[in-house]
Amino acid sequence: MCGIVGYAGPQTPSTTSLDVLLEGLARLEYRGYDSAGVALVTPRGLASAKRAGKLERLREALAENPLPEGTVGIGHTRWATHGRPTDENAHPHLSADGQVAVIHNGIIENFHALREELLGEGVTFLSETDTEVAAHLLGRALAKVGDLTEAMRAVVARLKGAFTLLAVEAGSPDRVVGARRNSPLVVGLGDGENFLGSDVAAFISRTNRALELGQDQIVTITADSVEVTGFDGEPVVPHEYTVDWDASAAVKGGYPTFMQKEIHEQPKAVSDTLLGRLDDQGRLELDELRLDTAVLRRIKKIIVVACGTAAYAGHVAKYAIEHWCRIPVEVELAHEFRYRDPVVNEQTLVVAVSQSGETMDTLQAIRHAKDQGSKVLAIVNTHGSTIAREADAVLYTHAGPEVAVASTKAFLAQITAAYLLGLYLAQLRGNKYTDEVAGYLEELAQLPTKIQQVLDRAGEVREVARSMSDARAVLFLGRHVGYPVALEGALKLKELAYIHAEGFAAGELKHGPIALVEEGTPVFVIVPTRRRPELHAKVVSNIQEVRARGARTLVIAEEGDEAVTAFADVVFRIPETPTLMAPLLTVVPLQIFACELAAAKGLDVDQPRNLAKSVTVE
Ligand code: F6R
Repeated sequence: MCGIVGYAGPQTPSTTSLDVLLEGLARLEYRGYDSAGVALVTPRGLASAKRAGKLERLREALAENPLPEGTVGIGHTRWATHGRPTDENAHPHLSADGQVAVIHNGIIENFHALREELLGEGVTFLSETDTEVAAHLLGRALAKVGDLTEAMRAVVARLKGAFTLLAVEAGSPDRVVGARRNSPLVVGLGDGENFLGSDVAAFISRTNRALELGQDQIVTITADSVEVTGFDGEPVVPHEYTVDWDASAAVKGGYPTFMQKEIHEQPKAVSDTLLGRLDDQGRLELDELRLDTAVLRRIKKIIVVACGTAAYAGHVAKYAIEHWCRIPVEVELAHEFRYRDPVVNEQTLVVAVSQSGETMDTLQAIRHAKDQGSKVLAIVNTHGSTIAREADAVLYTHAGPEVAVASTKAFLAQITAAYLLGLYLAQLRGNKYTDEVAGYLEELAQLPTKIQQVLDRAGEVREVARSMSDARAVLFLGRHVGYPVALEGALKLKELAYIHAEGFAAGELKHGPIALVEEGTPVFVIVPTRRRPELHAKVVSNIQEVRARGARTLVIAEEGDEAVTAFADVVFRIPETPTLMAPLLTVVPLQIFACELAAAKGLDVDQPRNLAKSVTVE
């Protein structure tokens, strides 16, 4: 949510600070694209430009009115919280004297009181944002203390909420100062140049060396130095790490959109997540788990906390973990968990699932769980992210960078990792023998090939999707693990194609939702494998029930399942697979359907309206 980049480095004729900032913003644009802006420190003072809309609008503005060359600079791409997406509300914001430029990610919760105070002192505001408060405070503090880092320290002491702030000032042409509280900020260590970014994508094309910043820290970078202190001024030695993906992973690789590329990377996301998990005895070993096995043996309950697609991955995992481990599993939206009074204690394992590892709702939920004495295990895709660092244990998914705003490959990787956790617990707690665990792992190992088989038939889904671009509402039905898949299919269609879509448990149909079905209503039905005849027969009946009321039925069923043919207007086939493995296949046609339907409507598949990749505000 909002992308932030800061740069301090040498000017060369081929690369200017502005080039570096714009490249960083292009890679961060998935975090928000309501507006974009930059500020540079130039020999003539601060120079800045900003525009509502995507980065392209800013590039056009810069082409019309070029900025003078600057030394250091900051850049921002916005996901609007306070104030509409207008030129005025775009970042950077300047202090009243024009000496300081500030960009911000997060929400300054006490901005109203601070704004009133500043208005009372005669300050004029040019925007509706909370950020402008920080810009004015910083300008005033700088005038008093004369040093940008010290001024930042004075300002953050007055702010409440979650924020990353970056600032440059006219009188310090060599430095960028950043501060973080509950909002992401990483440092990139280059060769004679240094970077600040919301995430490593901001600088990955120039360096893969990064520094983790902790909560409540202030960082000052120049081209050849990085200094980190706590908000209290105490020096901090941050942890350096190497980013394990390169810039090429974040380019489209021949696909028209990131989403198509990421859908096609799903076999690899699953196989990479499974990689290297067995010890030399063939036992499942999750080395990265930092939790004592005694603790894991004692657990009486698991609560999965997550949001959106990640929560649906948790729903799928519930079926498997309860079945394998006989531990009750609850799945709860992180923002609901946080604000009720959940019954958790030291015998509860809270499992946080998050692609970005920065989702504020999920982060707050795990903090709440830890306060109640629970152990927290995070299933996360982004190394060094805040959730990964604050959890007691981490199980990384290896999906690689997910750039398209709508999650696809991370979903499959999350289910895979949660299944590994379930099998590990079953092995550890003696619910399953090693050979039984090996059997399930063998089934999982076959999935990348089967997912590829589903992808090979993408053309069939594309054709149907492209013929349905005038659909007004689409329903999705599933039973057992097919139910969360139905929810995910509906979410993908809503967010990408802006079509009203609802997912239901097929058994719930007769309790109300069937009233929505009218002549021609498209209804997707996810049919369970015939290995579970009791589930299969019920869903086949559900197809007939909606068809009898005029629905156009789009059925996802395994190869050879002829029971559905008579009642399906369209059948998308998936390879035969055991029930618990099926979500990793059945969701794929639904992702392709949403993506292709959105493309047919001429919509931006990678950056759907009103959304952002990482939701770093509550
Ligand atoms: C939907 C989607 C979102 C995310 C949710 C959680 O396509 O991407 O629903 O799944 O915002 O994000 P993470 O996994 O980063 O915590």
